[in-house]
Amino acid sequence: MSTDLHPALSDPFNHYSLRLGKGYWENPLSGDKYYINGGIPVFLPEELMSGNNLKYSRFYDRISRFYRFSSLLASRFGGYSDRKSRMRYLQKLHIAPGNRVLEVAVGTADNLKYLPEGAIYSGIDISFGMLTMAAKHLRKWKRSAFLFQGEAEHLPFPADSFDVVFHVGGIVLFNDGQRALQEMIRVARPGARLLIVDDKEDTPACGERFNPFNPGDISLPGGTMALPSRLIPHGMKNIEISILDGGNLFCLIFTKPELRPGHEHKPLMTPAVQR
Ligand SMILES: C[S@@+](CC[C@H](N)C(=O)[O-])C[C@H]1O[C@@H](n2cnc3c(N)ncnc32)[C@H](O)[C@@H]1O
Repeated sequence: MSTDLHPALSDPFNHYSLRLGKGYWENPLSGDKYYINGGIPVFLPEELMSGNNLKYSRFYDRISRFYRFSSLLASRFGGYSDRKSRMRYLQKLHIAPGNRVLEVAVGTADNLKYLPEGAIYSGIDISFGMLTMAAKHLRKWKRSAFLFQGEAEHLPFPADSFDVVFHVGGIVLFNDGQRALQEMIRVARPGARLLIVDDKEDTPACGERFNPFNPGDISLPGGTMALPSRLIPHGMKNIEISILDGGNLFCLIFTKPELRPGHEHKPLMTPAVQR
């Protein structure tokens, strides 16, 4: 993809604009450098990760080479196609040509395979292993996307950067799902569509519990599995919640409000939807 289409980047920890150096992105204010490894800028090296994010980064690094195969196998055993299963929610994104689209926790890019061409895709994930597989898949599928390593709780993009922002699978186990949601809203432009799909609260924690590569001592933030639907800030528009996959998944869609002249948008992190 043409580098002219590359999204602007900002420091994930203080939002200062980054500039491109030789092999790194640099914060000119602090001098901090974020190195580019195999074409992927790295914003959070493993030594700076903690809690579930560290456990899951290692877990997904380990299973990255088998992740797509196991999804395909699961769909085959379930009697449905991977495409059909993913299109149940991807079709709700309503992506138009030229849209700037961000997938948070992009994994091995399996969703991007099924999205329409003509939009400008970016994906971020905490696991470098998953991103390496994503890059490999995209080359094989002749699709393009800008890939970034980092955590959903600290996105390396300026406010209002994307027309569509989505996340599939994982937010309920992030260190701070509420912060991740706040970040997704920050980087979405006013009027943008946001979509979140994940396991429902009463689904035995995220399927991965049954995975033999499971990191084991999963701690659910706050002791219970938080439902992102309870975290949507007041003021979000057109909220739709649906249940998919025979009741195992929830799909949450909403729109970031347009700015009223003279009103800066500041999301209030109080629940809009109660259980
Ligand atoms: C179940 S996979 C989903 C991958 C992809 N979205 C899909 O639908 O196939 C969960 C992904 O979340 C990523 N992840 C976990 N915690 C994260 C965090 N705090 N920030 C960003 N990515 C994270 C993992 O590395 C993994 O790739």
